Amino acid sequence: MADLFSMKGRVVLLTGASRGLGRDMAITLAEAGATVLCAGRTVKELEATARTIQRKKGKVDVVPLDITDEAAVREQVEAILRRHRRIDVLVNNAGIIYREAIVDTPTESFRQAVETDLIAQFVLAREVGRHMLARKYGRIVNISSIMGVLGRATVAGYVAAKHGLIGLTKNLAAEFGPDVTANAIAPGYIRTELNVPLQQDKAFNAMLEQRTAAHRWGTPVDLRGPLLLLASDAGAYMTGHTLVVDGGMTTILA
Ligand SMILES: NC(=O)c1ccc[n+]([C@@H]2O[C@H](COP(=O)([O-])OP(=O)(O)OC[C@H]3O[C@@H](n4cnc5c(N)ncnc54)[C@H](OP(=O)(O)O)[C@@H]3O)[C@@H](O)[C@H]2O)c1
Repeated sequence: MADLFSMKGRVVLLTGASRGLGRDMAITLAEAGATVLCAGRTVKELEATARTIQRKKGKVDVVPLDITDEAAVREQVEAILRRHRRIDVLVNNAGIIYREAIVDTPTESFRQAVETDLIAQFVLAREVGRHMLARKYGRIVNISSIMGVLGRATVAGYVAAKHGLIGLTKNLAAEFGPDVTANAIAPGYIRTELNVPLQQDKAFNAMLEQRTAAHRWGTPVDLRGPLLLLASDAGAYMTGHTLVVDGGMTTILA
């Protein structure tokens, strides 16, 4: 049964592998047998992820990349294809957030969120997708958010981009079938550096405990199963889908 979720022999390009969810995803995918290409801007942190994987005898490479730099994305995809011959799986995990009321938000902040959380994923899916289509195999996993299905004050750029990413996922599915699947994961609140202010907010913690059937924050470990499902052959008949992994937050009003 474990073979169903195996990533053995697969080459995975994973963005945002330097910390948070991406770091845990890199380790998970490597433990499942993949060669993980860890992309992000902070090389030192990517190398730390790589060392953890190497200590566990996993296969890993570091890919310095700002995902908002389209020319750099193209160059890195070409370089990966020269070096590894293929990309079987693309995990669009990297993302940013800013917190400000709409009336106080400079257009540039909103634009930056959309650039990093939506347009970069489009560019990566297009560049890697061309190659996947030619090879007749591919898995694209976009990391959206419950903010891709709900609104929340002060995070307009993030909400708009994460909603857009779910839409983009459906269109990738429409255009990339039958051999390439595209799905999204919409995590709820998972403890990482991204949400430190919320972790320290008592009122938010009380709301989170009440609004989740799980009565707790998620941890990166909670995303391992959903990721392997969508990245492996276990999810072969799923495409265009968004898997909400939120301890029940978006299904429960109170
Ligand atoms: N944590 C949660 O509760 C939660 C919930 C729902 C969805 N998500 C989503 O899950 C993903 C990961 O979140 P996280 O909590 O792990 O965040 P995090 O701890 O802040 O990590 C974000 C990652 O994205 C990378 N990144 C940001 N901008 C980049 C750029 N321009 N180019 C390349 N890499 C970039 C960062 O690396 P560098 O800065 O080194 O480039 C880092 O590795 C995000 O898409 C986020 O929206 C998180």
